[in-house]
Amino acid sequence: MNTHKRMEYHTFFLLLCCLFPFIYAFTICNSSRRNSRLPPGPKGFPIIGNLLELGANPHHSLAILSKCYGPIMSLKLGSRTTIVISSPAITKEFFHTHDTSFLNRSVPIALRAGDFDKYSMMWMPAGDQWRKMRRITKEYLFSVLQLDAREFLQWKKVQELLNHVDECCKDEKALSIGGAVFTTALNILSNFMFSIDLAPYGLESVQEFKDAVCALLEAGGKPSLPDLFPILNSFNLLGFLQKENVNATKLLGIFDKIINERLQTRSTLYSYDGVSTKNSDVLDLLLNLNLKDESIFTQNDMRILFLTLFIAGNDTTSSTVEWAMSELILNPQTMKTARSEIIKLMQNKNESIQEYDISQLPYLQAVIKETLRLHPPAPFLIPREAIHDVDVHGFMVPKNAQILCNVWAMGRDPNVWLDPDMFIPERFLDTKIDYRGQDFELIPFGAGRRICPGLNLANRTLPIILGSLIHKFDWKVVGQPKDIDMEETFAITLQKAVPLMAIPIKI
Ligand code: HEM
Repeated sequence: MNTHKRMEYHTFFLLLCCLFPFIYAFTICNSSRRNSRLPPGPKGFPIIGNLLELGANPHHSLAILSKCYGPIMSLKLGSRTTIVISSPAITKEFFHTHDTSFLNRSVPIALRAGDFDKYSMMWMPAGDQWRKMRRITKEYLFSVLQLDAREFLQWKKVQELLNHVDECCKDEKALSIGGAVFTTALNILSNFMFSIDLAPYGLESVQEFKDAVCALLEAGGKPSLPDLFPILNSFNLLGFLQKENVNATKLLGIFDKIINERLQTRSTLYSYDGVSTKNSDVLDLLLNLNLKDESIFTQNDMRILFLTLFIAGNDTTSSTVEWAMSELILNPQTMKTARSEIIKLMQNKNESIQEYDISQLPYLQAVIKETLRLHPPAPFLIPREAIHDVDVHGFMVPKNAQILCNVWAMGRDPNVWLDPDMFIPERFLDTKIDYRGQDFELIPFGAGRRICPGLNLANRTLPIILGSLIHKFDWKVVGQPKDIDMEETFAITLQKAVPLMAIPIKI
């Protein structure tokens, strides 16, 4: 533990001692309220509640607990009532039948730095501003029209990834698959938004960007002490907010610079009012919108939207491809089947996979579904919050309760899936189950009105990157494939604890 962390805990325990009587009274008062109709759950300790039961991988611990207490369970995390759901039927009640009651997010204190909870679409309450941001995102970024228009751009970025892999191939060098795909996903998104590469391959600046993104994801995934004891909110003594502020400020600084440079270019290039008629990228479209009516879409909305999309879209995409590649290397027969399907389709075409090929690659699509079943990037989705008291399944879900939907547990439930721990893409070949939020046994992108708005983009990016990597290269790991470390590390997204390093061999 570093000195800074040790001091944080020191300060915390001192503070806890001083505040003990208040916290105790608050906890007792809170827990005696309406307890009788809460879903069942394990008894907790005074003050900390069930905190000790979470462990390093809460999605595992809570999956085990729900075997005992059922698919709707209540816990106390500190003083916070938390409802854990882990069956498709119950999830449907929450995010379909009662969707509007659970549209708000439970916002970690660390992300309140920079007013993220007020301005970021991911964390803001589901009011008018959120609806506006969803509409703008749908219309200007992820509509079929917009995605079709940028198809070539995505293909070009994937070719650059393949060129990079080719270089590693010549040097017989092991490559961090997650790292390389992170760069590709970042550049796809940055070209989509600003027509520039935000990151060249293998440079330190990418690592810095990734570190800042990961730090913010970690802040969103792990509850901090003030999250567990809201009474501590007023004591900003622990340095959490400052730390996350630094990361958010670093990333916002990058976007501010890009926006300002574009504004300058537009003022010299385009008509006197600065409106671009070229509409070359998302930034142009959004600046036009901003110029049309500043009150509808401010520049602050814009910079936070960019920050949100880069945080939400990059790591989820790269870690999904990394997990898929790990599973494929670990299961050589599955890799062979996936590659044969692609080679067969592409045999008369002297090029790499294009977006329109994906619909003819059902096995590749099944590999992605199977990866998202076993390794959902957001194992609890992104926690929601009850807007008011809600009756679900005969239980009371109290106002402000945090809702954790354990999609990781649902993906491995033997009542839902045959051989749930095995990687068998074939299971998806003769069913219509999809991850678009209608089939509640497979909801890695969430469901209901707050479902992931980047789903359409991810649905195109994932198969084209994964398919290209296995079409053009065979992959070897140092040692035996069976020794690939499949341990997970938990933040708001589920990462491989040990990154996959593999040597590409040109086919
Ligand atoms: C493998 C890829 C991805 C996965 C598995 C994923 C998963 C999720 C999940 C589970 C949620 C919460 C949904 C809910 O509460 O029901 C979410 C929200 C979100 N995702 Fe994604 N995502 C992915 C890619 C992307 C991409 C590429 C973008 C954009 C570039 C994106 C942007 C967002 C945003 C902005 C939200 C917040 C929406 C809101 O709160 O209204 N995601 N995502």
